Amino acid sequence: MGQPTPALNDDWWRSAVIYQVYVRSFADGDGDGTGDLAGVRARLPYLAELGVDALWFNPWYLSPMKDGGYDVADYRAIDPAFGTLAEAEKLIAEARELGIRTIVDIVPNHVSDQHPWFRAALTGGPERELFHFRPGRGEHGELPPNDWRSEFGGPAWTRLPDGDWYLHLFAPEQPDLNWAHPAVRQEHEDILRFWFERGVAGVRIDSAALPAKDPRLPDFTAGRDPHPYVDRDELHDVYRGWRAVADEYGGVFVGEVWLPDTERFARYLRPDELHTAFNFSFMTCPWHAARLRTSIEDTLAEHAPIGAPATWVLCNHDVTRTVTRYGRADTGFDFATKAFGTPTDLTLGTRRARAAALLSLALPGAVYVYQGEELGLPEADIPLDRIEDPMHARSGGVDPGRDGCRVPLPWTAGAPHAGFGGEPWLPQPAGWASYAADRQETDPGSMLTLYREAIRLRPAFGDAPLTWLPAPDGVLAFTRADALCLVNLADPPAGLPAHTSLLLASGPLDPDGRLPKDTAVWLRA
Ligand code: NOJ
Repeated sequence: MGQPTPALNDDWWRSAVIYQVYVRSFADGDGDGTGDLAGVRARLPYLAELGVDALWFNPWYLSPMKDGGYDVADYRAIDPAFGTLAEAEKLIAEARELGIRTIVDIVPNHVSDQHPWFRAALTGGPERELFHFRPGRGEHGELPPNDWRSEFGGPAWTRLPDGDWYLHLFAPEQPDLNWAHPAVRQEHEDILRFWFERGVAGVRIDSAALPAKDPRLPDFTAGRDPHPYVDRDELHDVYRGWRAVADEYGGVFVGEVWLPDTERFARYLRPDELHTAFNFSFMTCPWHAARLRTSIEDTLAEHAPIGAPATWVLCNHDVTRTVTRYGRADTGFDFATKAFGTPTDLTLGTRRARAAALLSLALPGAVYVYQGEELGLPEADIPLDRIEDPMHARSGGVDPGRDGCRVPLPWTAGAPHAGFGGEPWLPQPAGWASYAADRQETDPGSMLTLYREAIRLRPAFGDAPLTWLPAPDGVLAFTRADALCLVNLADPPAGLPAHTSLLLASGPLDPDGRLPKDTAVWLRA
């Protein structure tokens, strides 16, 4: 490389564009059909060209992959399907040379049932204290200790041959840790140090509001306050401990905090806790001007008093791809209503997703881009016998699962498997090659070109706060610094406000120079 390492600014996370890499499906360097670190290293120039500031890697640790790597058997080892620890260190350093930081994903709520602690617990060792083991209810202990349900469906308890039950808020292969035990806390602080020592700049915290449990493990009663396992006050002390570790290294956190209560959500972002958290209210918001505006306003209002930057998210590895969602009658997202065969209009969805990209990249704060969003990939239909996501089987086959947004990326239109590598672990649907990065790179009207341009031009908004401008119904208009963003979600074309130049548009203006429906534009004011 030999280039001087670009200077990186300490406050980068307040306004970064962060690209989410689902390693298993990003690029396959060794041709075995599973994405890997060699594949990511080979594509670093692509990511630098896209202009992103950081990469968030979904868990890349040793794992039986019962939940796509969120079942971790060893937090200090890379899964051999992905590569080695030495390769991860090289990847972190090579990305850093290109000015790109690395964020790893830590899963505190649970481990894999193959983790040494759980294996020792199964033999009846003192490690049982590190989990939630309980005798069952009923005359012979044949009923689970309480009525909690797994997030993936079914009871949150599994019984062992010795008669005891253990708690798992997700799959049975993901036993929950007991966060009241000091060894669990100590171990995670050590894991944080392990990765910060290797040069990572940040940590995404999986299921960040779930690790603490009411020690009595009472039945769940709707409306019970506090909740026996969601958003318990004890967690804040845990994250204060984590923050002290991060501060030694200048590391930052992004929490996966799903909480409808904005006041409770904001508590995680107090100055001595997490730096940022994902904005799921924006991600799940329907494509509707007034609702988007409310979501943006609420977000900014909840972050302002604590001085934390907002984040803007359109998609991730758990939810339906943006172009598919925005082409449906119901453009919001809700796990509870996911179903097979929901009709969508991909032309409409793509048009809206382009406008949404300009909207989110113009807002103050950090923006997350999930791999393939910059290619405009739709949600794929996975043949039933190929679905791996436990959400599908545990829902009794009702939920299509999350594999449809995890299909291996298309890189080269003319190559086998669209240039991903070997025969992909999840099948790529027909026509996938038409989304290939190489084809989009040379197409000025492609989603990839739009993302590249938007990320390049985004500094026009500076770090200025947002000011809404008067606009007709169904139109969002705001300025930041001397740039202006206008998004039209209404039928009548919208006239452009006074401006000196047009920076970027998500689609063509009409013959009278007005902004058509489902189109966004950036102007220099
Ligand atoms: C949230 C992750 O994003 C999801 O993919 C995973 O299944 C659960 N947490 C459990 O770790």
